[in-house]
Order: sequence, then C-alpha cells, then structure tokens
Amino acid sequence: MATAVITGGNDGIGRALADTYLERGHQVLVIGRDRGKGQAFLDAATGHGAGDRARFLQADLSLVTENKRALAWITRTYPSIDVLVLGARYHRSNRVETAEGFESNFALYYLSRFLLSHGLVGPLSRAPHPVILNFGGAGQTGPVRWDDLQLRRDYPGTGALGHSAKLCDLLGVSFIRIHHDTPVRYVLNHPGVVATSFAGEYDQATATQVERLKTIGKTTAQAVAQILPYLDDPPARLTAVLEGERVPTDTGAFDPAEATRLHEITRKLLAE
Ligand SMILES: NC(=O)c1ccc[n+]([C@@H]2O[C@H](COP(=O)([O-])OP(=O)(O)OC[C@H]3O[C@@H](n4cnc5c(N)ncnc54)[C@H](OP(=O)(O)O)[C@@H]3O)[C@@H](O)[C@H]2O)c1
Repeated sequence: MATAVITGGNDGIGRALADTYLERGHQVLVIGRDRGKGQAFLDAATGHGAGDRARFLQADLSLVTENKRALAWITRTYPSIDVLVLGARYHRSNRVETAEGFESNFALYYLSRFLLSHGLVGPLSRAPHPVILNFGGAGQTGPVRWDDLQLRRDYPGTGALGHSAKLCDLLGVSFIRIHHDTPVRYVLNHPGVVATSFAGEYDQATATQVERLKTIGKTTAQAVAQILPYLDDPPARLTAVLEGERVPTDTGAFDPAEATRLHEITRKLLAE
C-alpha cells in the first residue's frame, strides 16, 4: 500500500491532499500540533471507511527536537514512503524565536523541511516513484538575506514566509544534487492565493488582508488539481510549479552555488 506523509495536513491544501490520497487508497500520516484537528481528520477518515489507513502525529515542527522525534517515529512506522508533503507554516506579523533560539518561520518553513527532506530519504528511496512536495517560492521570491538569514533586522512580516520559501527553493536544488543516486523527485510549488486557514498571528492590518484573501483565493480542490499531475508524474528530478504551470529551474533563482552555500550554513547551524 502506498504511503503519504503530510505536514500541515490538518488544514488547507495539506488536508485536501490528505483526503485525496486517502481516497486513492494510500495510508496517510498527517502531522500537526492541534490534536483536535488531528482527531477530526481521523474521524472523517473513519466516516469514509478509511480509518485504518489514517494516522495523526502530534508534533511542533518548529522545534528541531520535535522533527527528530517525528523522524524516528516515522521511520519506525513506515518502511517506505511514496509521497512527502511539506506544508506546515505559521505566519507571524512580529518576529518570534522558538525555545531553541531560531526565528520561527526559518525554523518551521525551512529547517523542518530540511530535516524531513534529508531525514526521510531512506524510506522514500524504497518506494517505486517517490516524490517530495515542498511549497517553496517556485522562483517567485526575492533574494536571500545572506547576512541575516533569521531576519533579525527589519523583520518583514508577511515577507518572512516568502524569504523561507526562497530557502526552500534552494533546499530543493541541493537535495537533488546530494541524493542524485536515489529515485526521489522534488517538486517546488507556489499555489498562488488559496482560501485556507492561513494559520498564524496577524496584526490588525494583515488580518484584514488575510480575510480578503480568503474570499478571493482559489479553493483547496483547485490548488490540488493544479499540483497533482506533477506529483503523479514529476517531469524532472527537480520541478518548480507556479499555479499549475511549470517554471524553468535553470535560472538564477535556483542557483546551485547558492544552494550549496545554504546547505553548508544549515548543516553548521544544526551541528551547533
Ligand atoms: N494559502 C495560500 O494562499 C498560500 C499561498 C502561497 C503558499 N502557500 C503555502 O502552501 C502551504 C500550505 O498552506 P495552507 O494555506 O494550505 O496552510 P494553512 O491552512 O495555513 O495550514 C497550515 C498548517 O500548518 C500547521 N502548523 C502550523 N504550525 C505548526 C507547527 N509549529 N508544527 C506543526 N504544524 C504546524 C497547522 O496545523 P496545527 O494547527 O495543527 O499546528 C496547519 O494545519 C504552506 O507552505 C503555505 O506557505 C499557501
């Protein structure tokens, strides 16, 4: 039976993908912090006769220790993984550091995805056609702040998500270079505006914008329909997709030298 592991699967696009893979007969693991939402996912799966294939793992993925705990549990539980979806995010209008001292978006949107991508390459490699979906910037975001990766100066609010998404693009580039001898394919997706929970803590002005985005965004079903073909049949080792359209990855946005630089900085940070 095929297996899908989905961070951010409690809400939004992640939840829609979890439901899609359950309907297809996969076993699906959703990872999130909120046990109530996790139980709602399990109850809905049971209601559709798929309760035996659905699991929820409670974890705060903004913490390195929690990612390591999740990795140990996942590798013990699933010998092979066909689909890994990296969708957990939490916007903050004001800069916050985790208990481990990392800027919160950097920790959840980038470091967690780094740890889970590289940490699950073993079980992914045992699947016939493994794929990772990371909601990166698909080349649409600005440059890396090399001298301030954790946004200590001029914290950009909503822009913090975009900065992490840029780091995820570079993560995809270095992942396929490092794991070139595995069958794992990496898809970076920018879905455009989608009406989801927009998990986060917003100042008043941003909260108003977010409420508006919820009224104009595409549905999660539309977002899933735009990305599924690339997950079912990834056209390259690394694919970037913007609202359903493939974008080139041989551009400066996916610079291999920058990707290597970020990989080395990240390894050092985690070693410390
Ligand atoms: N929606 C859009 O318009 C849009 C646009 C561009 C890119 N994207 C990207 O698409 C992906 C999915 O977004 P979405 O809008 O569908 O998500 P969403 O509705 O905002 O949900 C985010 C999920 O992340 C989980 N989460 C938050 N903090 C967590 C933590 N510390 N540890 C573990 N899980 C945590 C939440 O679950 P719990 O409450 O259980 O923790 C929630 O299920 C994200 O990467 C997002 O940046 C979305």
